[in-house]
Amino acid sequence: MPIYDNHNRPITYLRLAVTDRCNLRCFYCMPENGVQYLPKKEILSFEEMERLVRLVAPLGIHKLRITGGEPFVRKELMPFLARLAAIPGIDAIHLTTNGVLTAPHVPALKALGIRSVNLSIDSLDEARFFEITRRNELKRVLKTLDALLEVQIPTKLNVVVMADKNDQDILPMVALTKDLPLEVRFIEEMPFNGEGQKQAALPWDYQRIIAHIRAHYPSLQKIADEPFSTAYHYAIDGHQGKIGVIAAFSRTFCGTCNRIRLTAQGTLETCLYDEGVLNIRDWMRQGASDEQLTEMLLKAFSNRPKDGFEAEAKRDLLNPVHESMSAIGG
Ligand code: GTP
Ligand code: 5AD
Ligand code: SF4
Repeated sequence: MPIYDNHNRPITYLRLAVTDRCNLRCFYCMPENGVQYLPKKEILSFEEMERLVRLVAPLGIHKLRITGGEPFVRKELMPFLARLAAIPGIDAIHLTTNGVLTAPHVPALKALGIRSVNLSIDSLDEARFFEITRRNELKRVLKTLDALLEVQIPTKLNVVVMADKNDQDILPMVALTKDLPLEVRFIEEMPFNGEGQKQAALPWDYQRIIAHIRAHYPSLQKIADEPFSTAYHYAIDGHQGKIGVIAAFSRTFCGTCNRIRLTAQGTLETCLYDEGVLNIRDWMRQGASDEQLTEMLLKAFSNRPKDGFEAEAKRDLLNPVHESMSAIGG
């Protein structure tokens, strides 16, 4: 039986950011010069992360998503994933990656039973890819995509939609789903860019994205979403793959939010938009027992904001959303 939070939502899913470092500089995530990376000792060790996962698994958390920064920038990621896979109660490990370093690891991910990979790719055009990520790595990302398709790991492409940056990419991305068994997800841009810049209005909200696709593909039809999904799903007649739209900024899905996050520096977040509710790292390093940590976790689970607006409002006066997504992991 999972633990239910104070809004009657089961907590079954942990997102684990294994590093705050990244080999890209996506402008919606980081300023051009990057962000000040944390000193190594401030980042949780793999042993500390594994301890935390062993503590939450008996509470009913059975799904893990590995995020970053870029997970493969951290050394020895694969042996760590193998250790996580062996933890009783953990039955699904997923990964979100930018795909630059991932291709050589794909066969090992398959062998480990990784359930699915979400690949960030905001443009299929080299120049626009460079403009967005400030790095020339599209070819390596596409290699990763080929490798994932080859071994048939279920794959979703994450496309953050940005006005005047990649709106031209929406339709070519949709076209990929014609012959490939992929889910292409269009994501609203959020203000986690490491600079504290807030958009006044969102030029491409999920409704506009859907309307734009429908104007070119009139057969676009709503299909069922998995429980607890952040994406709304759509199918197009004759297409093998499907389309997803994530209202990450409009936050329409908070009512079924089953996820918590552990940032790279060991802070527990019970909402993407909160600023961290518990510093697990410091408690662990001060010698807290498993029982004490479990008690703190349960307390945090029973005190979650109802949605991302409540979480944001709480922090807005003192510390408005400004951090880079690279430390939170999305
Ligand atoms: P699954 O549901 O496990 O497939 O994961 P996901 O699709 O949510 O994960 P992914 O790491 O691919 O994130 C896709 C986008 O959704 C990113 O832009 C995330 O920041 C955003 N996102 C994920 N979780 C949340 C959330 O709880 N709230 C909001 N507002 N956005 C989220
Ligand atoms: N807004 C929306 N999505 C973002 N991501 C990173 N920063 C942002 C942002 N500011 C996405 C990445 C990645 C996922 C984990 O989060 O594209 O696919
Ligand atoms: Fe790196 Fe992901 Fe941030 Fe891009 S969005 S800079 S790939 S952590």
